[in-house]
Amino acid sequence: MVDSLKKPAFEEIRPGVKVPAKDTILTPRFYTTDFDEMARMDISCNEDELQAILEEFRTDYNRHHFVRDAEFEQSWAHIDGETRQLFIEFLERSCTAEFSGFLLYKELGRRLKDKSPVLAECFNLMSRDEARHAGFLNKAMSDFDLSLDLGFLTKSKSYTFFKPKFIFYATYLSEKIGYWRYITIFRHLEAHPEHRIYPIFRFFENWCQDENRHGDFFDAIMRAQPQFLNDWQAKLWSRFFLLSVFATMYLNDIQRADFYRAIGLDAREYDIEVIEKTNATAARVFPVVLNVEHPEFYQRLDVCIENNRKLAEIAKAQTPKLLKFFQKLPFYTSSAWQLLKLYLIKPIEVAPTHGTPR
Ligand SMILES: [Fe+2]
Ligand SMILES: [Fe+2]
Repeated sequence: MVDSLKKPAFEEIRPGVKVPAKDTILTPRFYTTDFDEMARMDISCNEDELQAILEEFRTDYNRHHFVRDAEFEQSWAHIDGETRQLFIEFLERSCTAEFSGFLLYKELGRRLKDKSPVLAECFNLMSRDEARHAGFLNKAMSDFDLSLDLGFLTKSKSYTFFKPKFIFYATYLSEKIGYWRYITIFRHLEAHPEHRIYPIFRFFENWCQDENRHGDFFDAIMRAQPQFLNDWQAKLWSRFFLLSVFATMYLNDIQRADFYRAIGLDAREYDIEVIEKTNATAARVFPVVLNVEHPEFYQRLDVCIENNRKLAEIAKAQTPKLLKFFQKLPFYTSSAWQLLKLYLIKPIEVAPTHGTPR
């Protein structure tokens, strides 16, 4: 390991507080939506299921779960060099994604309070969960001598506007993929405890149940809004969101394969498993899902990874900006083409279940 990497070269806002990772197409986003449209939504056709989910949220199974125990109280200096850097990046990405959920759900809870009380309470209780998750991850970052200023993040990040329908597709998928990511890591480390180099992974089993319940909530909302799921546009959008979520995760994770190696996982195998599971789960509510077993599916994503590697090399070189642009162009074009071809792979039709309570 290179000595100069012992203290990771992260920029700090002030000592110990990390400058948030720069926004790119691959970093977690913050969302906002049309709150009035959300408030006008009629959820009566699936009210019983939503009420049952609300009862589960109120029970608060993980009330006492997120407590740092003695195992955290030691020096983590032995996780050093590149592994330390990758660890911090993993914790930061996870914390930002959790915090993004917190902000959106909190705001929804506030704005729907008087107009749609069941939904408002569900959003408030989900924001409670996400605040715990984000806080726990941020505390973990401080074991590596850095943390995020979440107040600063709230003000400095840009917010993406999605209409409610798209918020549901995106949050449903991010909750369910979050569930599969956490549980897959947990089960792997349960079978191979020698790779559990940091205690946070022990918390993932109960933690992921929060994400699973959040995903079920969005599943129930979408079922209550059949118009979001039952036309040809819904099929196109389902494919779009599935592909965006899978491609983003795959490109991120394969580029950080060393992090997964540090906990004994092969990033590619891990992602393939998470994608298969999430795709199968999505088939319970989306009108179509992707054919992820198509032989071109990962081949094309691998071409995008190779393109990203070349783009990063070009970006690092000492070449004039204009020249860089022309050097980069073919790789951008190639990745866009791969993604288009992936989008056009014939999807798998799912028997309609929307409009019907589970
Ligand atoms: Fe979460
Ligand atoms: Fe969640």
